[in-house]
Amino acid sequence: MTTLRAEPLTARSMGTHHDRVDGPEKVTGRAPYAAEHADPASPPVAAWMVTSTVARGRVLRVDASAAVEHPGVLRVLDHESAPRLADTEDEELAVLQDDRVRFRGQVVALVLADTAEAAREGARLVRVHYAEEPHEAAYDASTATYSPEGVNAGHETDWADGDLEAARGTTGAVVVEGDYSTPHEFNSPMEPHAAVVSWDGTTLTMWDSTQAVHAVARTLAPMLGLDPAQVRVAAPYVGGGFGSKGLPHAPEMVAALAALAVGTDDPGRRVRLVTTRQQMFALAGYRTATRSAVRLVAEPDGTLLSVEHDATSQTSRFKEFAEQTATAARMMYAAPARRTTHRVAGLDVNVPSWMRAPGEMPGMFALEVAMDELAVATGVDPVTLRERNEPATDPETGKPWNERRLVECLVRGAERFGWADRPTAPRATRDGDWWVGTGVAAATYPTLYMPGNEARIETLDDGRYAVSIGAVDIGTGARTVLKQISADALGVDPAAVEVHVGDTDLPFATVAGGSAGTASWGTAIAAAVQQHRADHGAHPEVGTHTTAGAEPYPDMEGHSLHSFGATFAEVRVHAWTGELRVSRMVGVYSVGRVINPTTSRSQLLGGMVMGISGALHEDGHRDPRFGHVVTQDLATYHVAAHADIGDLQVEWLDEVDELATPMGGRGIGEIGIVGTAASVANAAWHATGVRVRDLPLTADAFLDLPPLS
Ligand code: MOS
Repeated sequence: MTTLRAEPLTARSMGTHHDRVDGPEKVTGRAPYAAEHADPASPPVAAWMVTSTVARGRVLRVDASAAVEHPGVLRVLDHESAPRLADTEDEELAVLQDDRVRFRGQVVALVLADTAEAAREGARLVRVHYAEEPHEAAYDASTATYSPEGVNAGHETDWADGDLEAARGTTGAVVVEGDYSTPHEFNSPMEPHAAVVSWDGTTLTMWDSTQAVHAVARTLAPMLGLDPAQVRVAAPYVGGGFGSKGLPHAPEMVAALAALAVGTDDPGRRVRLVTTRQQMFALAGYRTATRSAVRLVAEPDGTLLSVEHDATSQTSRFKEFAEQTATAARMMYAAPARRTTHRVAGLDVNVPSWMRAPGEMPGMFALEVAMDELAVATGVDPVTLRERNEPATDPETGKPWNERRLVECLVRGAERFGWADRPTAPRATRDGDWWVGTGVAAATYPTLYMPGNEARIETLDDGRYAVSIGAVDIGTGARTVLKQISADALGVDPAAVEVHVGDTDLPFATVAGGSAGTASWGTAIAAAVQQHRADHGAHPEVGTHTTAGAEPYPDMEGHSLHSFGATFAEVRVHAWTGELRVSRMVGVYSVGRVINPTTSRSQLLGGMVMGISGALHEDGHRDPRFGHVVTQDLATYHVAAHADIGDLQVEWLDEVDELATPMGGRGIGEIGIVGTAASVANAAWHATGVRVRDLPLTADAFLDLPPLS
């Protein structure tokens, strides 16, 4: 593939509003989601997963006799009858290949039927006999942990600098230390994981609800013993993912195996598998619970002498995922001494995975609440405290920042929020039966760039162009902003550009994740347009086309690239019931150029909403006796609804970051969730004087407030 260095783009459409190009299809119900790719003339075979009711052991026998008698049930696949995989090393994806039960909720059989109803009833009738073995599924402060070889996103497990003893021994030093925790949290996209798959003897065709079509094809193909070219994955419309669809999980492999089984007898017959909401809590990845021990040592004026963040999380015994909880503490504030460590507990549970801002979300909750405690301990205003600890260069790498505008975010946010009028003391403001308080927290997210993307540029008639890339729009507005980027790269109006995404038949694209989709895909488009011009001139003839990709763009070697933000929260805590409401929040972000203010605002607001949801509601409870998550539906695992959200205001600094991308933008998908929960916890302290270090902040923490006079 040709690659070249993309030049900075001149913004014409970028930075201006553009309606979502897929809005009309979506609001009229015409946008087909994964499960809707059914052939009306030949209804798909319905697949229903049977999942384990024990947390560890062996499957002795799958008794499908009653199930296959049920009208409509075609067959039942189990670990003996399912098609064999060529590679079973990834034990999350190697489903139905052996008799081992690794966690409760693992797929142990699959019912295929004429209808979803018959398949579901068939699944109920399958009897699985187990040889149960003792399991370990409790994760708490006493759970044994080990040191992983690395943590998520390629970070080192431990990183330290300077002399901690000297910091602690400094005369007059103020020490703040605490244990912070976040619970298991579950990506709960509106559209559950689903796939429609067919096998015609040569090609596996998969309509999948995924954030990364090429990653699904390239991961599943070798496991299935196929060439990646034999696996076509399409995801034209996706109803959210938050990271749960960033990597293939078991349901995709189950659907693929079912299609192989069905297609061997009936080539091309489609199979449809839809994960139930309850199964989502066992099979789709989740954010592990975390525990953070944070110690801050500072001069009496709040100048940090040391930062210590020791984090633990849990993972599965059969596949490791280590949340990078402490990495933000490596670069967030200046301090001469620092220690950050990660340990994980290996349990008989399903493997955790990505959920919006893995690492930063739980880690910055701990660090930013600790910073608030330091502000209280030193009597320094929380905004001033953060300003006072601004590092001139990245403390972890020593590199200069691309643009570190955290202080501007804090100052602008304070102004818009009305921070100056805030009483210093807690429990100082009452409104009837409600205590009112305000809090602030900072946010950060690294600027990631995923290499390898390619785009195809084709000249159409009437001065129009088609731009194709296998990127996925999971509801973020990617289609729309790629149209704007393409238009500016081509120097035409956005109306003259057709954008094609969401299919492995299109040029290679990386995941819609890491807040790096637009940055990585847009850079490839910019490069491909340059190459198209180089190949075909400034007025290319109709039909000319070029496929090319970009050299890695951001100056990662020379600079430390991050986005920053600040959230200010106002909360109300009911004096008698402890009910906590977030009445108001202002978020100000530094994210480079905002390509489309409308879709970007939704991304940042959505992150803040998810942060409030994590602050107040989301609490995945695993029952260690049985090993499963008991809060496995949206009634018991509450995700913020409209009624939970007050007045949210979001803005961004006027900014073009030419070091980051040709568009001048960085990522925006995740930073909105980072720090948000800490700002709520800090505001809750200010309202009540009660310091909560564990998410979520539930009413029981506020039941012992002094009586109202
Ligand atoms: Mo996001 S957790 O990077 O898909």
